[in-house]
Amino acid sequence: MNPLNHVAIIMDGNGRWGLKHKNSRNEGHRFGLNTVEKIIKETIKQKIRYLTLYAFSTENWNRPKKEIDYLFKLLENFLLKKIQDLNKQNIKLKIIGSKKFSKKLNKLLISSEKKTSKNTTLQINLALNYGSKFEILSAVKKIIKNKDIINEKNFRKYLQTNHTPDPELLIRTGNTKRLSNFLLWQSAYAEIFFEKKLWPDFNEKDYINIIKKYKRIKRNFGNI
Ligand code: FPP
Repeated sequence: MNPLNHVAIIMDGNGRWGLKHKNSRNEGHRFGLNTVEKIIKETIKQKIRYLTLYAFSTENWNRPKKEIDYLFKLLENFLLKKIQDLNKQNIKLKIIGSKKFSKKLNKLLISSEKKTSKNTTLQINLALNYGSKFEILSAVKKIIKNKDIINEKNFRKYLQTNHTPDPELLIRTGNTKRLSNFLLWQSAYAEIFFEKKLWPDFNEKDYINIIKKYKRIKRNFGNI
């Protein structure tokens, strides 16, 4: 059985779900947040140590302002309401991506990270204003500036995920088969599962099924 330390998820399909069921993309995001909570709980049950969630990409700024504002309000309310609870569950929250939001949200993100920084049961990396190409280019610039030796082991220290092992499993919901600028370096050897269900419909059972399938895969890493 393959070990599983880190699951990364592209939570796609909120907009389509919202339009179909509630005639509103934003409602899809609201329901998507329920799935986030279910998946966090199940990740702890499965004793997985790291969960990276793609919540907002550098490309998502192209969306209508109304949707962007809604998403960040949702995140703000979530943190205000749930950070104590996350802390009690011994969850550490880390933000990957650039914190270029309102002063209020930036402050809240920083304080949430600080409050949970000593926790050890599960680390959630929330990818916000995250883009993998930008992350890689920034790492290249820093490694050159530091005149550090350029090899894989050193390079990973300059990535925003330097605190996290690479994901063994990457899941994308929403019936789309692409990586959308997410963890391109880190997913070099990830097993990738594309799930047809839209994110708000994805549930613990679907998650467990994927984990079971992943655990049975013969992982060769280029060997035979
Ligand atoms: C992609 O679906 C989803 C997002 C861009 C946002 C993800 C946000 C959540 C799951 C809820 C909020 C999360 C937190 C942590 C507060 P899409 O909108 O691209 O869907 P579509 O492909 O159907 O348009």
